[in-house]
Amino acid sequence: MELVSLVRLEGVAKHVILPDDSRLDILRDIDLAIAAGDHVAIVGRSGSGKSTLLNLMGMLDRPSEGAVWFRGDPVRRMRKGKLDKLRGRNVGFVFQQFNLLAGRTALENVAMPLGYASGRDFWNRRRTATAMLERVGLGHRIESTPEQLSGGEQQRVAIARALVRRPALILADEPTGALDVETGGSVMALLDEIASEADAALVTITHDLHVAARARRHYRLDAGVLTPFDLSAPAAGAAAAAAYDRIDLAPELAESVSAPGSGGRVDAATAADATTSAPVAGAAEPDATTAVSTEADGAARVAASTPPSADGTAPEDRTAPEDEPEAVEVAS
Ligand SMILES: Nc1ncnc2c1ncn2[C@@H]1O[C@H](COP(=O)(O)OP(=O)(O)O)[C@@H](O)[C@H]1O
Ligand SMILES: [Mg+2]
Repeated sequence: MELVSLVRLEGVAKHVILPDDSRLDILRDIDLAIAAGDHVAIVGRSGSGKSTLLNLMGMLDRPSEGAVWFRGDPVRRMRKGKLDKLRGRNVGFVFQQFNLLAGRTALENVAMPLGYASGRDFWNRRRTATAMLERVGLGHRIESTPEQLSGGEQQRVAIARALVRRPALILADEPTGALDVETGGSVMALLDEIASEADAALVTITHDLHVAARARRHYRLDAGVLTPFDLSAPAAGAAAAAAYDRIDLAPELAESVSAPGSGGRVDAATAADATTSAPVAGAAEPDATTAVSTEADGAARVAASTPPSADGTAPEDRTAPEDEPEAVEVAS
């Protein structure tokens, strides 16, 4: 018998039918196995299917073809309630745009996923959330709201929230995409560190080869086709650029890696701008994950792909709390 993976995709394809009745193949024949404690990076240009793949791994979406297993159980056969519970317990999401609840304190944001836990986890949620915020270096900011925090601080709150239920799998969709080089680097180091401490598997989606270099295994996604590639250390500069040439990654990646002084990243202003406007030459492309509703095809995508909710947990979690009355109160 094979070793049971944490999450495994076999022959996974995803396609959608567009309004003009044409078929869009988003992912094609994907085989991928993630083991406990693994750190995998997936690199690809905007529109290559990264977020769609992440949603399938996070069991937020179902494949058109092929199968997904979680700890050896076929996800296809799970009923919604079981699936929601499984996801809430085991999967933590981190997004480019942090997706914190505005007007709520860091503590409330981080305690939120524990509102769906039961027993001791539920009753100790504020203490657990405080400890998690201390772990990400924000013990002194627990009463601050996202509006009062910098981008890097907000992403640290989001990391604390993603990890507060000690998930076995952390899925990070462009986690440094909205941060400057230095902040992105330290946020990524922190995410990596906490994931290994918890022996959680980490899947990082990124445009940035420097970020990808933190992972143990690397894949590129190109027009829905996933291919492993070898991004050997030292990751920065020439090695990454060479890797780029060899694997023919997106041109904007090559530029960002080889441009002198750019460090392969975008500055905060550019990145922020890039989320609402056209791609900047030599910079990371905007990512559609959180700007989905502003796109022309926004409505169709939201309906079809059920993106994770603002609290970083699955949207369904909120409708199926294990401790009903109090679970609702956590949010208030
Ligand atoms: N539900 C959907 N309906 C129509 N098109 C979709 C849907 N989901 C994704 N797409 C399209 O599939 C492609 C891949 O999307 P996505 O996974 O968000 O890419 P990435 O995260 O790599 O930028 C894009 O062209 C996107 O517009
Ligand atoms: Mg995306």
